Amino acid sequence: PKRTVDYKIVLLGESSVGKSSILERLQNNTFDDNKSSTIGAAFISKKVVRETDLINLQIWDTAGQERFHNLTPLYYRNSNAALLVFDLTSLESFKKAEYWINELETYIGEVELDEPASNEGRGRDTMKIILVGNKVDLLNGEACPFEDQIKEFMNVHKSVVNYFKTSAKKNLEIIDLFEYITNSIDDT
Ligand code: GTP
Ligand code: MG
Repeated sequence: PKRTVDYKIVLLGESSVGKSSILERLQNNTFDDNKSSTIGAAFISKKVVRETDLINLQIWDTAGQERFHNLTPLYYRNSNAALLVFDLTSLESFKKAEYWINELETYIGEVELDEPASNEGRGRDTMKIILVGNKVDLLNGEACPFEDQIKEFMNVHKSVVNYFKTSAKKNLEIIDLFEYITNSIDDT
């Protein structure tokens, strides 16, 4: 490849929405019905080739449990992309995504005040935020009961560039999600 591009991604969201399961599907194409809850955070890397570039995805899988929340800024600072993951059958988990988007938007606002228009490549204002509704398999083809609130969320938070409905269990839209991310990495 002509060049190697490092790209940092963080997964945020309530405990048990399936963050680690999404990454296990990405990395090993496997699924575990009894996955243990992440302690602190976990890291995986995955190399993908895009045309003449080698893209090195560096992915932080944060712990959703409340007791680890004070650590989470360590992982989303310096990220190029953030995946806000919730469970399509849990309104409570969606509320947590609302909590995280507010936290991220506050952070992005502070960085922009600090470094106005001086972003090269990994600029904070280019942090891509993607909403991910996981466990779509549990809906059995029905609409999500809080679909209206998801639409509203996408309308209000213009910093969120896309929304995917995934299933780590049934391997739905996981590949599409990461293809979308790698394809949207800036060519700068
Ligand atoms: P924390 O590490 O505590 O933040 O949780 P997490 O978001 O990493 O969730 P995890 O991947 O550990 O998954 C929690 C549970 O949900 C596990 O029992 C998984 O088997 C299950 N699960 C994950 N993804 C899916 C899915 O797409 N569909 C279904 N039906 N279950 C899933
Ligand atoms: Mg986990």
